[in-house]
Amino acid sequence: MQKQEKIVKMFDDIAKTYDVANRVLSMGVDISWRKYACKKVLDNFTHQNINIVDVACGTGDMMGMWQSTAQKQNVSINSLTGIDPSSGMMEVGKQKFPNFTFIQAYANDTTLSDACADILSISYGIRNVVERQKALIEFNRVLKMGGYVVVLEFTKRQQSGFLSKIRDFYLQKILPKIGGFISKNKEAYEYLPSSIQDFLDAKSFCDELKETGFEIIECKGFSMEISTLFIAKKIKETK
Ligand SMILES: C[S@@+](CC[C@H](N)C(=O)[O-])C[C@H]1O[C@@H](n2cnc3c(N)ncnc32)[C@H](O)[C@@H]1O
Repeated sequence: MQKQEKIVKMFDDIAKTYDVANRVLSMGVDISWRKYACKKVLDNFTHQNINIVDVACGTGDMMGMWQSTAQKQNVSINSLTGIDPSSGMMEVGKQKFPNFTFIQAYANDTTLSDACADILSISYGIRNVVERQKALIEFNRVLKMGGYVVVLEFTKRQQSGFLSKIRDFYLQKILPKIGGFISKNKEAYEYLPSSIQDFLDAKSFCDELKETGFEIIECKGFSMEISTLFIAKKIKETK
């Protein structure tokens, strides 16, 4: 099995316990990170009718956050589409959100048409995308000019310091134990810290976004830089 297929199978295997593990491991704080991201971007679309695509949508939590935040901010959503290659994760999402559209596809080949989206988000997903550069080119293709790509991700730390050591201790020692206990799949939760190590630091990921036609609007770390939010605007075509 190829690396990308193995990653997707791992998410299929942990799909049923994913939401519980997520809430416990982030102590619910991920909700505030998601809310901040949605609110910040939707501020640009008040009274508009927009299309949102959520890539690596998993069990649909980011889609739910887009919907509830849009309602509060007087933004009307014309379409809200989730993309994910894991049928197991999307099955859970469909049960939670029966009215949303889910498409089984990879980030680098979403099957969507050119310039169809005003916003494209990917939360805790880009780290799992093996063909990341192709995916960023695909995001550029799917977004309208001036549209926003919104990425939440665990990035590799840029500096070493006391807080970074605490963060690494939590990610490497505590998280795999708790996640493994909840999901009964320790391997999947050992993959998380190793996938963060294999990913980029925030600055390098900003550089990749810039190279694929995006202008960085915001790059913000949350909770001891455990999670980073990237908001970037499409300013040129990469095709
Ligand atoms: C950590 S989960 C995040 C789910 C959801 N976005 C959230 O915030 O809870 C990562 C998701 O990425 C998906 N994924 C893995 N490889 C992918 C790829 N190449 N393209 C798109 N999604 C992918 C997995 O199936 C999984 O649902």
